[in-house]
Order: sequence, then C-alpha cells, then structure tokens
Amino acid sequence: MALSKRLSAIVDVVDSGYDEIWDCCCDHGLLGIELLQQDKAQLIHFVDIVPELMQALNDKLERFCNEEQRGRWQVHCQDVAAITPDPQKRHLVIIAGVGGELLVQFLAKIVSQNPNTYIDFIVCPVHHSYHVRSYLQTLQLGLVSEQLVCENKRFYEIIVMSASSSQLITRIGQQMWQLTSKEHQAYLKQLCAHYQRMLNQDADYYQPVLEQYSALLS
Ligand SMILES: C[S@@+](CC[C@H](N)C(=O)[O-])C[C@H]1O[C@@H](n2cnc3c(N)ncnc32)[C@H](O)[C@@H]1O
Repeated sequence: MALSKRLSAIVDVVDSGYDEIWDCCCDHGLLGIELLQQDKAQLIHFVDIVPELMQALNDKLERFCNEEQRGRWQVHCQDVAAITPDPQKRHLVIIAGVGGELLVQFLAKIVSQNPNTYIDFIVCPVHHSYHVRSYLQTLQLGLVSEQLVCENKRFYEIIVMSASSSQLITRIGQQMWQLTSKEHQAYLKQLCAHYQRMLNQDADYYQPVLEQYSALLS
C-alpha cells in the first residue's frame, strides 16, 4: 500500500545510523514496514497496544518478509510508555499519529525509564504541537529538523530531535515556517483561532501562546 504524504515525509527524515528503530503506535505498521524495506536499521520494532492489530501485523510480516529481512523485526503488543530499548544499542523512537498530550506522556515515561540508553526521537503529533515542543525543550536533545506537512486539509508538524544536535527547539517552530506559503498561513490562522478560543479556559497560559503565533502572521 502506498504511504501517505505524512508517513513518507517521516521516512525521508530517518537517518540510517541507528541500530534499532521503534515504530510506536504503529497501527497497521505501514511506517515500520517501509523502514524495513528501505533497510534503515538492523532491527525494526513495531509497537501497538491493540492485540488484533499486532497479530495481523505479525502474520503479514511473516508472510511477506524476504530471507534477508527475517529476524530484523519484532512486534510488541504493549503500552508504548513501557518499551525497554537495549541500553547497548543506539535507538530512534518514532511516535506519530497520536494526540500531543498523550505523546508527551509517552515521551516522559520512555525518557525517565531508560536514563542510560541512547534514544533520539521523531514525533508527529495530532494537534498540541506547542505542548509537545515545550516538553521537548526540557530534554537533553537538540533539534535536527522540523517541517510542516499538509494532508487531507490537516496539518502535521514532523520534529526530529537528537542528542547529536545542540540546536534549541522553539515552542512555535522556526525553520519549518514558509510564511509566504498559503498553506502555512492557513495553519497559522487555524492555530490563532484555536488559541483565541482557549483564552476562555486559561488566559494566563494561552495569551502568550496566541501572541507568539500571531506575531508570525503579521
Ligand atoms: C492513529 S494510529 C497512528 C498510526 C501511525 N503511527 C500513523 O501515524 O499513521 C494511533 C495508534 O496508537 C495506538 N495506541 C494508542 N495508545 C497506545 C499505547 N498506550 N501504547 C501503544 N499503542 C497505543 C492505537 O492502538 C492506534 O493504533
């Protein structure tokens, strides 16, 4: 099955220098399968919490993998927050397609439970990028790249963070913006409208957020 524009964009920013890559919240495993086919790492982990999905994915991988790919993938039916990457290896953990608040909970658990393990991250939240970025600022990781992808009239930020980078990540994004692009302007307007509405809930928190995004629009 052809990869979506968003998942293709994620595959394109995956560096091949990792021992193991984790496709977390993998659903049908499309992202991890592409990484396996492109030989992006020695071992690809597929993680999702739904047993039926993971059984079907396991069957599919067993059926379609060639000799060379055998033994280079593992399927884990479990909570992403509880993964235990091997501390002897270099890992890339990818979490895409889940809400930003949940994504931060996953990241926080993975980071706190694996303090001595080399882990870089690629994240692509559904909404709440500001919250995700605020959390990423607290990690000992730097920004490698960030980009905005528009798919089916929805916008997604793809953020790559690595211990090998010392570039600070900002809360509203910096290098990803192409402010003359109509799509990017539409995303910014959407964000401003959202945070305008959120002022009713917590003006002290959301007013500065709104001001930062609004400054990009003007
Ligand atoms: C919308 S899919 C995302 C699929 C793919 N990553 C993408 O970006 O298109 C979200 C997946 O997250 C999984 N999920 C939700 N909470 C989870 C958890 N705590 N641990 C593992 N998987 C989880 C769901 O079962 C679902 O398959």
